[in-house]
Amino acid sequence: MKHLISIHDLTLDEINEIFKLSEKLKRQNKEGVQHHLLKGKTLGMIFTKSSTRTRVSFEVGMYQLGGYALFLSANDIQLGRGETIYDTAQVLSRYIDGIMIRTFKQSDVEDLARYGSIPVINGLTDLMHPCQILADLFTVYEHKGQLKGLKLAYVGDGNNVANSLLHGCAKVGMDIAVATPKGYECDAGIIAEAMEDAKLSGSTITLTEDPVEAIKDADVVYTDTWVSMGQEAEKEQRIKTFSPYQVNGKLFSLAKEDAIFMHCLPAYRGFEVTEEVIDGPQSVIFDEAENRLHVQKAIMALVMG
Ligand code: CP
Ligand code: NVA
Repeated sequence: MKHLISIHDLTLDEINEIFKLSEKLKRQNKEGVQHHLLKGKTLGMIFTKSSTRTRVSFEVGMYQLGGYALFLSANDIQLGRGETIYDTAQVLSRYIDGIMIRTFKQSDVEDLARYGSIPVINGLTDLMHPCQILADLFTVYEHKGQLKGLKLAYVGDGNNVANSLLHGCAKVGMDIAVATPKGYECDAGIIAEAMEDAKLSGSTITLTEDPVEAIKDADVVYTDTWVSMGQEAEKEQRIKTFSPYQVNGKLFSLAKEDAIFMHCLPAYRGFEVTEEVIDGPQSVIFDEAENRLHVQKAIMALVMG
């Protein structure tokens, strides 16, 4: 593994390797055992969008691995004033050992990896959010003891999180049903990649406009904000379009009785999900958030070690 740019690039063995190391690092962390797998290494974290979880979990993760993380806001570095990705990649490669980037264009992440000589980790683009979904699948495994054969229902916007869920479920053999309104479907290229992987893993992909159809018999129910970063101007119209896709008690009750509820956060209660669901006993949102730390430490150790 050289970079972590898209889940589609990973083999199932690599995903299992990430999970195995995540489990070990998580256990050792709770036992107070130090594991300085990246002693003396530095990670540059470029952000052109806001973040709570990604920023803190990568920075703390790097510290716990014995390394150091630099927060590089695009407002402060020359990239934000028009310096090229090429020059940025070349220069950073002379100073640091890895880059985590959260930005708008997927192609910027790919270019950073292409032009630099150090590992690049995708911390979210408009197209995907691979670290989130790897942490989520690890969380599902902790709660359900398996991945293959389970059904995940995603209800809402066909955004970066939904795209990476398609990638992730197809790789690990989970059935996935995605319910989105017309015009807000997942990315066509990602759907095609996930279909390829689903054929290999034996899982199914259902794409529908009907949240009830998607959620039926689901083991995992997942939703995300209706207004992603960069879409603030469309907020009013999106709220109208997505209101039939709210995950409320009535919709959630159509999933399996022991279904878990997931959300990458930040959440907007009363919009994509109601309080009774997200703050209810079947919600595992804070386990997901915690696992960002453990899973990303494993990713960093594997790509930068
Ligand atoms: N889920 C997630 O990536 O959260 P942040 O935007 O806070 O990093
Ligand atoms: N879809 C959301 C995820 C935030 C972690 C966004 O892109 O804003």
